[in-house]
Amino acid sequence: MIDFALTEEQKACQKLVRDFALKEIVPVAHELDEEQRHSPEIVEKYHEIGLLHYAVPEEYGGAGLGSLEGCIFGEELGAACAGVAASLGGSILGLTPFLIAGSPELKEELLTKHTSGPNLGAFCLTEPDAGSDVAALRTTAVLEGDEYIINGSKRFITNGGVASLYSVFATENAELRHKGISAFMVPADTPGVSSGKKEDKMGQRATDTREVIFSDVHIPARYRLGEGLDGFKIAMKTLDDSRAGVGAAAVGIARAALEAARDYAKERVQFGKPIAAQQGIQFMLADMAMKVNAARLLCWHAAWLHDNGQRNTLESAIAKCFAGDTAMAVTTDAVQVLGGYGYMKEYPVEKYMRDAKLHQIYEGTNQIQRLVIARQILS
Ligand code: CAA
Repeated sequence: MIDFALTEEQKACQKLVRDFALKEIVPVAHELDEEQRHSPEIVEKYHEIGLLHYAVPEEYGGAGLGSLEGCIFGEELGAACAGVAASLGGSILGLTPFLIAGSPELKEELLTKHTSGPNLGAFCLTEPDAGSDVAALRTTAVLEGDEYIINGSKRFITNGGVASLYSVFATENAELRHKGISAFMVPADTPGVSSGKKEDKMGQRATDTREVIFSDVHIPARYRLGEGLDGFKIAMKTLDDSRAGVGAAAVGIARAALEAARDYAKERVQFGKPIAAQQGIQFMLADMAMKVNAARLLCWHAAWLHDNGQRNTLESAIAKCFAGDTAMAVTTDAVQVLGGYGYMKEYPVEKYMRDAKLHQIYEGTNQIQRLVIARQILS
């Protein structure tokens, strides 16, 4: 039985986030973008409505919601401001390795405190010389007595300078490539943890994206996740889980761009009639709508598989890739529909187009998604 209807609870969540986004994010989105500013106020208010830690089980202070709800939130936040969406979504991404592989004792110790306030998480995987090739990462973790000592630096980290808790991937034996990597939880206030320069980005400028540096960071050995040397698989499972929600944020950008183009086309009069009466514009809007709807369904399907305990490596890569490409295509077309006005900062579509580009790059480039898809269908 296939059911495309959201439950009453999911509809209520959608309305809650849509209202929140319209009230708290849309009015400041342009300003945050101009000033390249992360907004702790939005984080605080999102925590107040109980959704900042939505994926964390209730027993550890979260809302215990699933990936499908994550898609619903991602779309609404992405439609309002993709930079804010990346910060709020990146926080859950940072906690996901912990949710997948943390022991109940460690969750009780670190997670319950984390979820008690407007605290952000961050996912520290990428390094200056290890982006797509995760197995090449060079941050080290050395076990000495009952402590691990972590050294290295992570690059392009979402929430890098504003997170309270990091999930960190480090190698215990670089020669073993992916088989030498372990995953750790590192509180940001641990001595030796620092954040580097804030990146000056093309889009998604409301996210604080930075280098995070670990210099002789001592953490208790119990802060390691899983069994040890299984960090690569924890990272891959995390990305399987998160890619549907990231795709949904791209759907949000595309939806907002489509709505802006539609509204403009109905008002803009050329050759004596609204340009929406021209078939050339109608066909563009129709193509945009097809892509948005298809991308949304792919994201929801990938999330549904996850929520129903099924592996979704293939489907989440398809969803993330298709939705990211959709956001780029639809926002580019929206700029085209608005013509000269679309290119100006006075209208929101140029921001949508800049924001969309990152969806073809982060959480695994869309070339890596195609690699994952090809490997899955060939295996
Ligand atoms: N689930 C479980 N296990 C998996 C897996 C998955 N999805 N994918 C791979 N594995 C397992 C494999 O089965 C294999 O296991 P064995 O050792 O038992 O054989 C092992 O992991 C190694 O797999 P591969 O041989 O496929 O590994 P690879 O080195 O060829 O790399 C890759 C695969 C898909 C390219 C991977 O490196 C990758 O995903 N790269 C992209 C990284 C990425 O997405 N980075 C994003 C950073 S986060 C970010 O951008 C967020 C943000 O801040 C906004």
